[in-house]
Amino acid sequence: MPEWPKGAVCKIAGLAFTGSNPVPATAPGPLGGRAPLSSPTVNLDGPELHLRPLAVADASALLELRVREREFLTPFEPLRNDRFFTLEAQREQIEQGLQDWAQDRGYGFGIFYRDSNELIGRVALSNVVRGAWQNATLGYFIASAYNGRGLASQAVGLAVGYAFSEVKLHRVQAGVMPRNQASAKVLINNGFRYEGRSPRYLRINGVWEDHDLYALTVEDHS
Ligand SMILES: CC(C)(COP(=O)(O)OP(=O)(O)OC[C@H]1O[C@@H](n2cnc3c(N)ncnc32)[C@H](O)[C@@H]1OP(=O)(O)O)[C@@H](O)C(=O)NCCC(=O)NCCS
Repeated sequence: MPEWPKGAVCKIAGLAFTGSNPVPATAPGPLGGRAPLSSPTVNLDGPELHLRPLAVADASALLELRVREREFLTPFEPLRNDRFFTLEAQREQIEQGLQDWAQDRGYGFGIFYRDSNELIGRVALSNVVRGAWQNATLGYFIASAYNGRGLASQAVGLAVGYAFSEVKLHRVQAGVMPRNQASAKVLINNGFRYEGRSPRYLRINGVWEDHDLYALTVEDHS
């Protein structure tokens, strides 16, 4: 488990974050007998964006974002049933994310537009593996109305900086469908290298889709 020095401020390529350790669960709750966890105090700031782990109190904002962007995101995501678009399901998503933080399995952030404090997307380091690999997979989306302003590139830069500086990972990888050139550009903007095409890599919107794999190791991260 990485240490987040309380109140620490770290600058990554002009971007800043502060942090403190996440708080462990203390009581039985709806997820596997564990209570909703407190949200770790981690704040990543870029020129236009503020990133922080989502708390249970963010569930209604997340639901609103998910419902509004349902049509936009459907071609890029696993199939979602109607229950996914309920407050209860979004709260469970957040609680699962907090469990992942506490267990060093994943590090997910809400992406907030700084001017309005509106939740406009998510970026997550998932499937953390330690041992010889020290790797995580990266996923992200930005609300359609905010596309084309460099915001996904900014959010990915913040998350990747955190992955290397604080989570102490060695490698971050991402898979992109070949037709999703905007997403590939986001990775290239952040120094990721193309590693090859993996056939039928992920089941997206009900179809096993080929993906282009991109990765960045800490040695190549500026
Ligand atoms: C992909 C996504 C994250 C991009 O978000 P964004 O905030 O618009 O991204 P940015 O503005 O940081 O960068 C997009 C880049 O792609 C470029 N681009 C956009 N559409 C493109 C296209 N059709 N072909 C090639 N490049 C394209 C932009 O010009 C920009 O490049 P630049 O930095 O050189 O100007 C967003 O569209 C999204 O959430 N899509 C749905 C979910 C998704 O695909 N997630 C990623 C799964 S791997």
